[in-house]
Amino acid sequence: MRHGTLVSEDGARRYPVREFIPRFVPESNYADSFGMQWQRFRQTQLDSFSGRPISAERFWKTTAWRSVELNDAWVLDAGCGAGRFAEVALDAGAKVVALDYSSAVDACLQNLGERPRLHVVQGDIYALPFAPRSFAFVYSLGVLQHTPDVARAFAALPPLLAPGGRLCVDFYELSWKSTLLPKYWLRPFTRRMPKAQLFALCERLVPRLLPLSRAMSRVPFIGRTLRRVVPVANHEGTLPLSPSQLREWALLDTFDWLAPQYDKPQTAATVRRWLEKSGLEDPQVLKAGHLTARGTESHATRH
Ligand SMILES: C[S@@+](CC[C@H](N)C(=O)[O-])C[C@H]1O[C@@H](n2cnc3c(N)ncnc32)[C@H](O)[C@@H]1O
Repeated sequence: MRHGTLVSEDGARRYPVREFIPRFVPESNYADSFGMQWQRFRQTQLDSFSGRPISAERFWKTTAWRSVELNDAWVLDAGCGAGRFAEVALDAGAKVVALDYSSAVDACLQNLGERPRLHVVQGDIYALPFAPRSFAFVYSLGVLQHTPDVARAFAALPPLLAPGGRLCVDFYELSWKSTLLPKYWLRPFTRRMPKAQLFALCERLVPRLLPLSRAMSRVPFIGRTLRRVVPVANHEGTLPLSPSQLREWALLDTFDWLAPQYDKPQTAATVRRWLEKSGLEDPQVLKAGHLTARGTESHATRH
């Protein structure tokens, strides 16, 4: 259905469907910068567009799931953005529900709308429009730190797991090193700027800062650490991208550092506490790129 209305069984609630997507949230909200970002860089991080398996490698390393396990399973991507990880799950044969709070959902549908197993929903992690125990797999990568109450966002996900279902989420890690990152001392200013103005500033500064970051990288022994003081997302030497891709990813990720309303990194101890409280079995907290938490819903029924 391209346009229409979803009505609850008792007729009490109504939700618009616009451009094939059911919308359970107000059009404008705290995640607007992400909507803008993922529409401008709709394809940048999709493996099918970059020609590099960067999203696939991150997905499989972070989740430790196996491709065959996802085949034909219902999978929730909570905070899908433009769909870089949804694409990986679809490639594995999953039936993917890709949900995002922002208008990134339109970018996701444009990217992956040809896939019959994709279902896109504009919704909020804090008010998920799904019945409990609906999904065999739930993941949320690069998302939870960008919500106003990270503990509550995390707690919203385990109830969606079917018996035996598996959860994987990741976070930016909070450490003394992360507090030194320039984005954290710039964000108090930049997150308040009009987004179009901030984007224009990034467009001007990123091409100037990248060579500086590269120069810092060349300093013997401490180059990798030193380049972190330059406020630009430089993926050179860490991701296999061409020079023009490096420039595009730098602009995207520098804006992604500076624009979001919320950016709340977490410690391993905090995440371990949340995971324990969730009651999931086989709880794991580890560094798999980012700080990662995994768990499995018991086969016994929850009460
Ligand atoms: C950094 S992006 C990551 C997107 C995608 N997972 C990726 O890695 O490319 C964070 C995403 O979380 C979404 N988000 C933030 N708060 C949310 C919420 N309450 N419910 C659902 N999505 C949310 C944003 O709109 C944004 O698209």
